[in-house]
Parts: sequence; structure tokens; C-alpha cells
Amino acid sequence: MRRVTWVYIARCGDGTLYTGVTTDLHRRLAQHSAGRGARYTRGRGGVRLRYCEAAATRGQALRREAAIKRLPRARKLRLANPPGIRPGRPADLPFIHRTIAALDLDPERVAHEQFFVAVEGRARIGFVRIKPYARCFELGSLAVLPRWRGRGRGARLARFVIARFPTRRVWITTDLVGFFVPLGFREAVPPADLRRKLAGITHQVHRTGIVAMVASKAHPGLPHRRPSPKIMGT
Ligand SMILES: CC(C)(COP(=O)(O)OP(=O)(O)OC[C@H]1O[C@@H](n2cnc3c(N)ncnc32)[C@H](O)[C@@H]1OP(=O)(O)O)[C@@H](O)C(=O)NCCC(=O)NCCS
Repeated sequence: MRRVTWVYIARCGDGTLYTGVTTDLHRRLAQHSAGRGARYTRGRGGVRLRYCEAAATRGQALRREAAIKRLPRARKLRLANPPGIRPGRPADLPFIHRTIAALDLDPERVAHEQFFVAVEGRARIGFVRIKPYARCFELGSLAVLPRWRGRGRGARLARFVIARFPTRRVWITTDLVGFFVPLGFREAVPPADLRRKLAGITHQVHRTGIVAMVASKAHPGLPHRRPSPKIMGT
């Protein structure tokens, strides 16, 4: 099974910016901060994530990394993640599993590195993931805890992941058509991986009318290269 590869910009303790590639943002940032990451970040204090975007393949990630590294610092600083949304950590998994079960969401192949978690102070209030399949990716498991709903948190999480999606086409399978249409999604015939998922959904017992939808991502900041023709659903 493919994994998402992340291209990221981290701010080092001395104020300089480091651009790298990883399949696990949380683990990689911890390595940098512990002095076990890249030679550049050693001895520069703890690092903080500033920006990340997903790539469909390692080759695509390395090309994006090279393009970002060539940018002047001022342009790099314009690439920034919004506050209150951070990469998933292993310690988030009990919260994620509990919430997925409570909200009847997709429990398949949950791994912390697929997730972004929305936080208010120290409290986790929601999450979203990029779920990899053999030949496409899905925006999945979007959730906001009930007491935080109706304040734009869900749309903000969805927009965040759309802008960082590894492929130009962003797929979802959902019964909330009315929520996703204003975000640019329309119903469409999905790639084979998602057709199989739709045919085999058995866990979402309380949900009916699940359809596939697609949106085109508008990439922030930088033009995107054409993805590899080997990857369907792009
Ligand atoms: C779907 C969910 C993430 C929305 O979170 P939220 O923080 O309440 O959403 P927002 O406040 O950002 O809403 C954005 C817009 O969508 C609308 N909206 C919210 N929930 C909706 C729903 N279930 N159906 C249709 N529209 C909805 C809001 O009214 C708002 O419209 P507005 O911009 O015109 O005011 C949240 O209700 C949830 O976690 N639901 C349970 C899990 C789930 O079903 N996830 C989707 C699986 S694919």
C-alpha cells in the first residue's frame, strides 16, 4: 500500500528554514529536535513545522523539495500552515479510533501519519486524513466534535487538506453531499479503488446514500508539476 510523502518546511531554533521530505511528519520533526535529523538541523535547537504538502510519490516530493529550496526566504515564509491544525501523532490514535467509532466513520487502515488534528488550546476537537489506496488518495474521516460544530471548523479542515492534497483531483466518499458541494466537490465516477470501497462498505451501518465526489485542488503558492501518468485518480 502506498503512503503519503510529505514535503515540509521547518523553522529551526536559530530562525533559519529547513526543507525536507518524510512519510511521517511527527516522527521526523521529533528527530530534528533531538539532533538526530538532517545534518543541517543538528545543533540549531528544536524545530517547528511551518508548512507541509503531500506528494503522491517520493520522486514528486523530491522535485517539490528542490523547487521550494530554490525559493527566496521571503517566498518560503509565505508558505505557512494555519494555526490550530497539526500533524497526527501516535498519542492521537485513541482519540481518533474513539471518534471514528462514535461517528460511524471509515475505520480502515488508520495510521497517525495520515491525519491532521484540529486543536483548541490543548484539546483535540477534530481531524481529517489523506487515505492512500494502491492507485489514488481519498480525503477521509473528516470529523469535528459535536460541541465545536457550526463554527467553520469542518470546512477549514477540509480546505486545509484540499490545498495540500497529493494529486490534483481530491476524492471523497460521503453521504454529506450538501456539506461538500460548497467546497468545490461534485459527484463523479471514482477510480477503481474507491468503486471497490463503495461496493464493500459494511462498517458504516448508520449511513446510507454514500457517493463518490471529486474536487480540483487549487494549489497555494507554487505551480504544480503534472503527476505521473502511472497514478490513476490524478
Ligand atoms: C461534517 C462536519 C465535519 C462539519 O463540521 P462543522 O465544523 O460543523 O462544519 P462547518 O461549521 O465548517 O460548516 C460549513 C458549512 O457546511 C454546512 N454544514 C455543516 N454540516 C453539514 C451537514 N451535515 N450537511 C450539510 N451542510 C452542512 C454548515 O451549515 C456551513 O454552511 P455555511 O458556511 O453556509 O454556514 C461535522 O458535522 C461532523 O464531524 N460530522 C460527523 C462526521 C461526518 O459525517 N463526517 C463527514 C464524513 S465524509
